[in-house]
Amino acid sequence: MLSITTDASLLNYNTFGIDCRAKTLAVVSSEGDLEELSRSGLLPSGGYVVIGGGSNLVLAERYEGTVVLMANKGIAVVEENDDELIVEAAAGEVWDHFVKGCVAKGWYGIENLVAIPGTVGASAVQNIGAYGVEAKDRIVSVRAYDVCEKAWVDFKTDECGYGYRESRFKHNEGKRYIVTSVRYRMDKTYKPVLTYKALVDELGSAATLDAATVSRTIEEIRWSKLPKPEVKGNAGSFFKNPVVSEAKFEELKKQYPDLAAHKVDGGFKLAAGWLIDRCGWKGRTMGSCGVYEKQALVLVNNGGCSGQEVRELAGRIAEDVKVKFGVTIDCEAEFVGFLN
Ligand code: EPU
Repeated sequence: MLSITTDASLLNYNTFGIDCRAKTLAVVSSEGDLEELSRSGLLPSGGYVVIGGGSNLVLAERYEGTVVLMANKGIAVVEENDDELIVEAAAGEVWDHFVKGCVAKGWYGIENLVAIPGTVGASAVQNIGAYGVEAKDRIVSVRAYDVCEKAWVDFKTDECGYGYRESRFKHNEGKRYIVTSVRYRMDKTYKPVLTYKALVDELGSAATLDAATVSRTIEEIRWSKLPKPEVKGNAGSFFKNPVVSEAKFEELKKQYPDLAAHKVDGGFKLAAGWLIDRCGWKGRTMGSCGVYEKQALVLVNNGGCSGQEVRELAGRIAEDVKVKFGVTIDCEAEFVGFLN
């Protein structure tokens, strides 16, 4: 049933642990709830924001609109043959439960994305990625409600505008679509993806690896570098890894032979964590937020920090990276409720 609260605290709905108050909080548990919410007039263009696990957000002190919390549940096999199956998961399912449930059932393809905070809906909006796999590699289609047309739409993968941590649903044009479920293609036979160096270093390239072992190892690597939000508020990787031209890469590499980077389409992707680290930010604090001591890409809440403080810290870091390396780093985390 649709639940609507006014002047609601979002403290428990964002992993950064920021105490934001929303004018309206709507908890959506079904497609019918979303249609009802849309009819109620609480979803004016530009006047709402959708959240799942709230794990990629920096909230202002207040949000003067409607926060739509997707809480619909359900996982079902919708197609199957000898080799593959298509599994549909509701947007409100916890991503990590979904991944672990799939591994346990012998459905393979997303196991490298284990332990990423957030929901299934966010996986498709954000195109989450880790250890050589991105959500888009496995997404078959995304079902969404078009708030403008008050109609349901199914997007095929190539209609979702996917790129590195990128999709059409993240931008103004696409915000009219509220994702309600995602279909993933799973293999019945496990084919390990062992392209990520840190993972190969840990596991070797043994041909006999099983999905449970690989996902357990990934989980261990993740938690050795990233703080658990329940222990220290954070939004995962705060910045995206920037892509620079080959000429810029060569120039930097000459100056910094240990530069962490790898080749991608259109240039070289630099490790933002490395750049921030080399600017001396790792482990530093500013007010009540700071840079995590084990991974410079992660900003943390050291207790009671505000979104504004996080914004200022992120700005200072990006400025230092620009001055030292001549490289622009963009935030991966999304800012909500700030006026400019
Ligand atoms: N590095 C440093 N200092 C640091 C952090 C990193 O020198 O403080 C260096 C590392 O030594 C390594 C390189 O930077 O050579 C890359 O670091 P890492 O392997 O930890 O990966 P990342 O680029 O920092 C990305 C994703 C993560 C994902 C991992 C594993 C982005 C923005 N982040 O991190 O995603 O888990 O790769 O695939 O692409 C997330 O999006 O929230 C997230 C955690």
